[in-house]
Amino acid sequence: MAPLQPHLVLVGMMGAGKTSVGRRIARQLGWRHVDADKRIERTTGRSIPDIFAHDGEERFRAIEHEVLETLLRVPGRTVVSTGGGAVLSPANCALMRERGIVVWLRAAPETLLARVGRGNGRPLLADDPAAALRRIAAERQSAYTDAAHVIVDVDGCTADQVADAVLAAVKGQERAS
Ligand code: S3P
Repeated sequence: MAPLQPHLVLVGMMGAGKTSVGRRIARQLGWRHVDADKRIERTTGRSIPDIFAHDGEERFRAIEHEVLETLLRVPGRTVVSTGGGAVLSPANCALMRERGIVVWLRAAPETLLARVGRGNGRPLLADDPAAALRRIAAERQSAYTDAAHVIVDVDGCTADQVADAVLAAVKGQERAS
């Protein structure tokens, strides 16, 4: 396939499938796959709920930014599955777009809710996952739109189908640029 930007970056709401789709895409391309949330947990030695509970969201976002900086600056080709809020930082968005092709896995709230269940392990969904997902998705709509080079709709699709759709869309984008 035509040479891609150094990295392929998946963005989207909690439950959009960024991790499972990222793993599949990396396998198909023969690239490394890194999940930013897992990297945060590994480098800090703490769980994301623990960071939110004891240090707050602002501190979590600072750590998330440092981790993305490190991941996206390394040479070599990586599929990066970001956390859903990575697009809240304009600095993250600029870096993601500079260092990769950014793909938004777009999903309807019903799809997200079916996947996140009761929101375990996701502090922002702790109280009322359905209401929180709707509110957060609406708040972030423009951030995802602005961050993305490519949008792939995931409703009703398996992770394999989404991975194939992402690869097809990215190839199309490469040809057009
Ligand atoms: C968040 C999404 C989570 C995680 C954290 C905050 C968000 O990642 O980074 O709980 O703000 O949307 P996933 O999108 O992988 O669930």
